[in-house]
Amino acid sequence: MKGLILSGGKGTRLYPLTYTRAKQLIPVANKPVLFRVIEAIRDAGISEIGIVIGDTGQQIREAVGDGEQFGVQVHYIEQSAPLGLAHAVKISRDFLGDDRFVMFLGDNVIQGGISPLIADFAHHHEWNCQIVLKEVAHPQQYGVACLNEQGRIVQLIEKPQEPPSNLALVGIYMFDPSIFEAAEAIKPSRRGELEITDAIQWLVKHNYVVFPHIHQGWWIDTGKASDMLEANSLVLEELTPAIKGTVDTVSEIDSRVTIEEGAEIIHSVIRGPAIIGRNTRIVNSYVGPFSSIYHDVVIENSEIERSIVLEHSTIRNIPARIQDSLIGRHAEVTLTVSLPKAIKMHLGDHSRLGLL
Ligand code: DAU
Repeated sequence: MKGLILSGGKGTRLYPLTYTRAKQLIPVANKPVLFRVIEAIRDAGISEIGIVIGDTGQQIREAVGDGEQFGVQVHYIEQSAPLGLAHAVKISRDFLGDDRFVMFLGDNVIQGGISPLIADFAHHHEWNCQIVLKEVAHPQQYGVACLNEQGRIVQLIEKPQEPPSNLALVGIYMFDPSIFEAAEAIKPSRRGELEITDAIQWLVKHNYVVFPHIHQGWWIDTGKASDMLEANSLVLEELTPAIKGTVDTVSEIDSRVTIEEGAEIIHSVIRGPAIIGRNTRIVNSYVGPFSSIYHDVVIENSEIERSIVLEHSTIRNIPARIQDSLIGRHAEVTLTVSLPKAIKMHLGDHSRLGLL
């Protein structure tokens, strides 16, 4: 089997962070979501992976390289414009050949990996396609599946205004080559995209075997800032703690904290689950639960929790606790005159905020 990761698209819902960065490279618990996807596919025993890239392709090539760092072989497939998930499948035909494959959206994070799913699909040669479903609160934001009493798929529909069920399509799909026939047969949707949901509906209608798997763990599509923070919390909960950096004797570190190499914790309190990245300095500060502070960050005389801070940012002298915030790369958050209010921010890359 092969792997296909979709890492094109625009990431508009994560602006301003994605003005300058591919959304799939934003880290969750200090590891880019795309790296988590590659590792999940590798851990399921697949070593040949195609990555569909768009405008941000160069960044993705630089970060992932030829795949050696993950122990896989990566091939890049350039998509001229984000014309839909089924379009991405069509242009990957040369790479995929006649192999069965798993397609994984590069901005999805799922609990427990995909090894059992891949094993099931490999075992059931009669299945043409396997989809993953999850009960969600707002199905209208996703592809939605309707099952009959026997658990067979009756209908699949992309982002319906009136969803026929609360079962969303998770961004993980397993296919055999019949999907190419389906992708050729469908027409662009109202939003002008060739929808993979329509292609799978075509398979259902033409009596191909599409098997639904209902996922029981958590799953997050990290399309929005709030989803990113939620994914961060869930992944941090599962991290194995390790202290590789230095901690002075007056600092207090919880048991569920990871401190990466070269990080320094000085006169500070870190409450887990939390992760402090490489070469980051935390001085006279409090880092609370569900925080991921990426590499080369400085936090001084400040308090932060339930937040993600990206690389090379500075937070200094903030008297109120920063929470539920997503702070971009090279951002500076500093205080000029004290005003003790709670602060809540979504700062983009290179932002500077001098609070009054
Ligand atoms: O996350 C699950 C949902 O993903 C499913 O429930 C929907 O049925 C499915 O259509 C998809 O919906 P989204 O609106 O979330 O898809 P998005 O445009 O965010 O694209 C998902 C990933 O695929 C993202 O990493 C960008 C990439 N992509 C997207 C398009 C449209 C491409 O590589 N090429 C494309 O043409």
